[in-house]
Amino acid sequence: MRFITLQLRFLVPLLVVLGAAAYFSLPLMDRLTLRWFARDLNMRGALVANTLSESMSEAIQDPRGRKLQALFGRAVLDERLVAMGWCPPGGGLAVRTPTFPRDMSCADAERIASEPDPQLRIEGGPVHVSVHDVQAESGPVGRLVLMHDLSFIDRRSQDTRRYLIFLIAGLGVLIALVTMVVAQLSWRGWVRGTRALLRGEGLLRPMGAASPELEPIAQELRTRLRDLEDEYRRARTQESDWSATRLQSLLRTQLSGDQVIVVSNREPYIHDRGPGGEVIVRRPASGLVTAVEPVMRACSGTWIAHGGGSADRDVVDKHDRVALPPGEPDYLLRRLWLTPEQEQGYYYGFANEGLWPLCHVAHVRPVFRESDWQQYREVNQLFADAVVAEARGEDPLVLVQDYHFALVPAMVRRKLPRATILTFWHIPWPNPESFGICPWRNELLEGMLGSSIMGFHTPFHCKNFIETVDRFLEARIEHEHSTVTHRGEHTFVESYPISIEWPSAQTVAGWPSPQACRHSLGVELGIPADHRLAVGVDRFDYTKGILERLHAVERLLEKYPQWRDRFTFVQVAAPTRAMLEEYQSFQQRIQALARRINERYATGGRDVVRLLARHHEHDEVNRLYRAADACLVTSLHDGMNLVCKEFVAARDDEQGVLILSRFAGAARDLPEALLVNPYHVEEMADALHQALTMPHAEQRERMASLRSTVREFNVFRWAGRMLTDAARWRLRERVSLRVKRHRDDTLA
Ligand code: F6P
Repeated sequence: MRFITLQLRFLVPLLVVLGAAAYFSLPLMDRLTLRWFARDLNMRGALVANTLSESMSEAIQDPRGRKLQALFGRAVLDERLVAMGWCPPGGGLAVRTPTFPRDMSCADAERIASEPDPQLRIEGGPVHVSVHDVQAESGPVGRLVLMHDLSFIDRRSQDTRRYLIFLIAGLGVLIALVTMVVAQLSWRGWVRGTRALLRGEGLLRPMGAASPELEPIAQELRTRLRDLEDEYRRARTQESDWSATRLQSLLRTQLSGDQVIVVSNREPYIHDRGPGGEVIVRRPASGLVTAVEPVMRACSGTWIAHGGGSADRDVVDKHDRVALPPGEPDYLLRRLWLTPEQEQGYYYGFANEGLWPLCHVAHVRPVFRESDWQQYREVNQLFADAVVAEARGEDPLVLVQDYHFALVPAMVRRKLPRATILTFWHIPWPNPESFGICPWRNELLEGMLGSSIMGFHTPFHCKNFIETVDRFLEARIEHEHSTVTHRGEHTFVESYPISIEWPSAQTVAGWPSPQACRHSLGVELGIPADHRLAVGVDRFDYTKGILERLHAVERLLEKYPQWRDRFTFVQVAAPTRAMLEEYQSFQQRIQALARRINERYATGGRDVVRLLARHHEHDEVNRLYRAADACLVTSLHDGMNLVCKEFVAARDDEQGVLILSRFAGAARDLPEALLVNPYHVEEMADALHQALTMPHAEQRERMASLRSTVREFNVFRWAGRMLTDAARWRLRERVSLRVKRHRDDTLA
């Protein structure tokens, strides 16, 4: 209907213009044709006069004029010539045909003939009047008045008018038809194209040659279309935010309750044996767990992970499964057991001494050992087999997490070709040169391309990955749709910025006030009430920029002495990968630096730097966030970093300043933070000073904006977008399978 209205908007003015053109052009046409005929008739008259001049000079010898009368009588037998008259020199009309108007004199004829439109209406109709000299050998013998019939001109101009009207009408119809057909075709094509893009089909279907220059625009367009789609859905569902409920409904409607299987190295809950032999449940310090656990609570399903806790085996059933979260189970955790050699080679060796430094620009050399690689392959196969064993049907939705399992996607694909495999890489992806130093780069890439969808935090990491594939594998890349086709299988590469679960109003209501947090922390750590407090919360990892942060604290105290004995920095450093030498030496360097700063600036026995190198539960970390004046997240390189988002979520009082590294993926989405280069100590010290002196109003403005971003772009949105893409993928796979079956049946 909308399309017809659009066409009418074009056609109606077109018809009006054509009608007006016809209306105004017809009188003009009449005048023009008349003028042409008058000129022709004048010439014809002159010809007649010339032709008759000899016969007339003889005929006028007859005094009674009979001969001339007879001559005129013969001449007017011509169908065009209606009447004739002769005006001798110096006299009145001497001879005329009977058709010549009775009351017309020679002078009248001369006057009419000299007019621009020498017409006269007589009994038989309109005539054209012309007067011509008649020359004899002896000289002029008078003037000949000729009257030509004009009614044929009338007939002709009526004919011309009719043809002109037909021509204009025909042209109008033709233009309208062509316009409608072209518009209809373009409209359908456009609508089809847009719908396909909105459905995401365009992302997966080969649609001509790709152009790398257009990739950023295509990426941008995809993001915008997706936002539009989100808006549209939100408007339809009346839900303003992504939430667990909304994710559940997406699973029900778009994935019709299909089985979800998550694969990760780290388990969401660790069961450890306490000092008294009791079982303690711990939440690991892991961004991955922070993000995926709430999603699993919403989706149910099965989570496969390494059982690394000392009491893990004691709480599982005979299938190595345990229902989680403890006390209010929503999903199943299937634990896999690794031998110490496997853990050493796969986790510590290949994943954390090889891939981790390979993907992070932290200037630590990766170590690649053949034996680690063998263990990595073996453990990946173990996890892939577990996925196949846990799958209830032939096409489960498998969510593979992180760099520990680059080979799992292809391994699962071999056994479950119809599975939808969504792999998310939680750390950065380096450029092709950096990645190229890995001896098993091709095997890793081929393993990952077993995924239906390959997700990274940022478009930049996607670009690096696609370029790496392009450099090392025989694959077809469609930059426009961000797809890689390798050995006939397609992988869609997309960015999905990870986030946290936004705390509910009920949760927030249970939190102690920021003042209470500050007070209890001060009592516990002996921090005077008048001290300003900055905090850092990280795993004890060299990529987190903890060393650089401490240098900045030291520089702050040097450069701005007013903060001496008025400032405390608390660094939570959760132990991680402590078996590795690189981590051990890093921890020693941090401890030494903290000691040195404290020796320099401690006053009254109070340390400036408090290094809390132990695991902290969520409530403890939250108290720290709420008590702090500033939070420092200064990663040298980070896929996203969720600490900064947790800090923002903890500050419902809209106070506190976030200092954030430019090299963390989160910096893209949180520009209201004070963005710093962690390698630039001076800049960091200045940012810290700025944070400590920032007026409350400015803090509120920045924090309110950060909070609205994190609330909106929460973890359910992260998962929702991935699952929506997965649902599209499945739909497309199912449709092409049906089409294939149908074709096979028809051919059979
Ligand atoms: O950042 C990558 C990552 O796998 C995160 O997902 C997680 O926060 C962290 O590393 C955990 O490391 P690990 O499991 O080795 O302690």
